[in-house]
Amino acid sequence: VKIFSGTSNHLLATNIASHLNKELGKVRISRFKSGEIYVHFEESVRNQDVFIIQTLGHPVNENLMELLIMVDAARRASAKSISAVIPYFAYGRQEKKDAPREPITAKMIVDLLSTVGVSRVVTLDLHAPAIQGFFNIPVDHLSALQLISDHILQCNIQNPIIVSPDAGRAKMAEKLATLLDAPFAIMLKKRPQHNAAKVTHIIGEVTDHTPIIIEDMIDTGGTIISVVEGLQEKGAKPAYICATHPLFSDNAAQKLLHPGIEEVVVTDSIAFENLSDSFKVLSVAPLLSDAI
Ligand code: R5P
Repeated sequence: VKIFSGTSNHLLATNIASHLNKELGKVRISRFKSGEIYVHFEESVRNQDVFIIQTLGHPVNENLMELLIMVDAARRASAKSISAVIPYFAYGRQEKKDAPREPITAKMIVDLLSTVGVSRVVTLDLHAPAIQGFFNIPVDHLSALQLISDHILQCNIQNPIIVSPDAGRAKMAEKLATLLDAPFAIMLKKRPQHNAAKVTHIIGEVTDHTPIIIEDMIDTGGTIISVVEGLQEKGAKPAYICATHPLFSDNAAQKLLHPGIEEVVVTDSIAFENLSDSFKVLSVAPLLSDAI
């Protein structure tokens, strides 16, 4: 087994390798002046089971292309198998057509991965778990939910209520509610445009409860802020926000320093530096290394 890292989250890759008592393999990844990517494995991968760790946070298209080129290089160097470890699988929100003349980008990425030679995928909290079915190769779909639940238990929260920010997250919220033996509520929202959400209904009794909001990702933070404000209007206490993937686009991290938020719990599926103390980052390195 040889483990290599793309450039998107080197620290996570190093931690995964060290959990496996291994060192990362040597690979050179550079850019031509034109922006084109060059990859060279600096050790043999012939007949090896190769794992390439590359999350698809910012800059998403660069990171994706880098992954595809790494896989191509490994295949052409006679690797026995190539597993792509993709902690955050980008474009998962485009898994179906919501309007005519739209792409299904999640499926397109799945096809690209298979075409270049990926033989297995390990990923974490897909936006839509059904994306697994887009692949004709094995997919290990892991979840950070147990990790999040263990952390929340340690916080000793009084009168908690698990909140799903929308109908799509209800299953995840229900699982967390079961793990924590807590009640749960669902918010319904509408999206006037991308990255904007407006809460329309809250199903469940949230007054005087401490909400624990569970999300797969925080992108601009717009959804979370509108959910938090909706809960505050109903008399809820400051909330705990739990999300697997901290995309934190624009000034999301600043936005989350909100009086209605007690703590933001995320994982290191996406690298993020200089987060303040109101953020708790849980490592998914053990979880991912177990799957390798
Ligand atoms: C949408 O259904 C997702 O689960 C997230 O709620 C959403 O994509 C987060 O985006 P943002 O942080 O920009 O509101």
